[in-house]
Amino acid sequence: MKMERDIPGLRADAFDAPARRGDFPILRERVNGHPLVYLDNAATTQKPQCVIDVLTGYYAGYNANVHRGVHTLSQRATDAYEAARGHVARFLNAASPAEIVYTRGTTDAINLVAQSFARPRLAAGDEILISAMEHHSNIVPWQLVCGQTGALLKVVPIDDAGEFVFEAYERLLGPRTKLVAVTHVSNALGSVTPIARIVATAHAANVPVLVDGAQAVSHLPVDVAGLDCDFYAFSGHKIFGPTGIGALYGKTAHLEAMPPYQGGGDMIRSVTFEKTEYNDLPYKFEAGTPNIAGAIGMGAAVEYVVAAGIDAISAHERELLAYATAQVRAIPGLRIIGTAKEKAGILSFTLDGVHAHDVGTILDHEGIAIRAGHHCAMPVMAQFGVAGTARASLALYNTREDVDALVAGLHRVQRMFR
Ligand SMILES: Cc1ncc(COP(=O)(O)O)c(C=O)c1O
Repeated sequence: MKMERDIPGLRADAFDAPARRGDFPILRERVNGHPLVYLDNAATTQKPQCVIDVLTGYYAGYNANVHRGVHTLSQRATDAYEAARGHVARFLNAASPAEIVYTRGTTDAINLVAQSFARPRLAAGDEILISAMEHHSNIVPWQLVCGQTGALLKVVPIDDAGEFVFEAYERLLGPRTKLVAVTHVSNALGSVTPIARIVATAHAANVPVLVDGAQAVSHLPVDVAGLDCDFYAFSGHKIFGPTGIGALYGKTAHLEAMPPYQGGGDMIRSVTFEKTEYNDLPYKFEAGTPNIAGAIGMGAAVEYVVAAGIDAISAHERELLAYATAQVRAIPGLRIIGTAKEKAGILSFTLDGVHAHDVGTILDHEGIAIRAGHHCAMPVMAQFGVAGTARASLALYNTREDVDALVAGLHRVQRMFR
């Protein structure tokens, strides 16, 4: 789907990262006296002016509550809020906007599925299958529901490159498996998992699949209909949208069958003290006043990505990751953590004799923002025998100049510790 919706200068067939930088005002900032080199996109992405304008436009022009008002502002807010849901549905290729539930983010979406879908279906001895490269957000909600039901958490191993071990997955997928929950892209390693095959294999055994798409949506085309996954979760802030908002895609039949996650206003059709009738999808899962501005901002963000062209973004980042990988490989004592054949946007590494936090702090003095630590993926760190890594993560606006600045910075770090 190629289009140029209301975003001047964007042409899907001519992706131009240096030009796209101009869309992101923060990239003109200086940090510690240096131009900002932002390479912490896996933690959160920066926001283009069109998203900032949409947020300001809502608060300045039509701030009102949604779904309840008869007045004009409320109608405008409701229209924008629901239009954004439509943008997200089209972005993921969902069958209908009713399959898109607004959540606080990926974490909230996974907890919703754990409590509302998994919990009522689990008995003692049943199994939930995850992979060894999951973010804590796709581990802990399953541990909680296992604790509540007596179900067991099983883990598909990853190999030394950080690749999903498919044969082990096939072995572990058994008669007690009730759900598979896997990441599309690992935030700590960058590995892209073979989601379509994972889903097809699970479905052959009648097992539904939740995909954690937090690290995928800004890097890869996502087609939930094509993947045939049962649930897909992502966060607005990782795809150039606001924090505190995200979405859960769920197949209609599943969402219909699930009880509400939380009770309150908006998720009901009628209430008496004796009985409450729940609202239609997706409102059944959206109790209380939602993050209206966030939803509208997330809608603008996915429209921005659609207009830029996700295939072009993906190709640009693949080329940039290959360039960055070749450059850092030449640095003595640098070990790349995560060398899967299919990777997206992430370069995790250790530097001999230098703590990852020192790497991050010294680079920050030069205006270069990276992440240092366990990246909320402690089991991955344990597997690779490290306490943490330094992680540079890319987005559509990064360029070879950013990578060159990182590499020069790493050489300086090394000289300081020699
Ligand atoms: C793979 C993955 N899953 C889940 C999350 C959680 O996202 P959020 O904190 O936005 O809910 C993250 C965040 O870094 C992530 O990288």
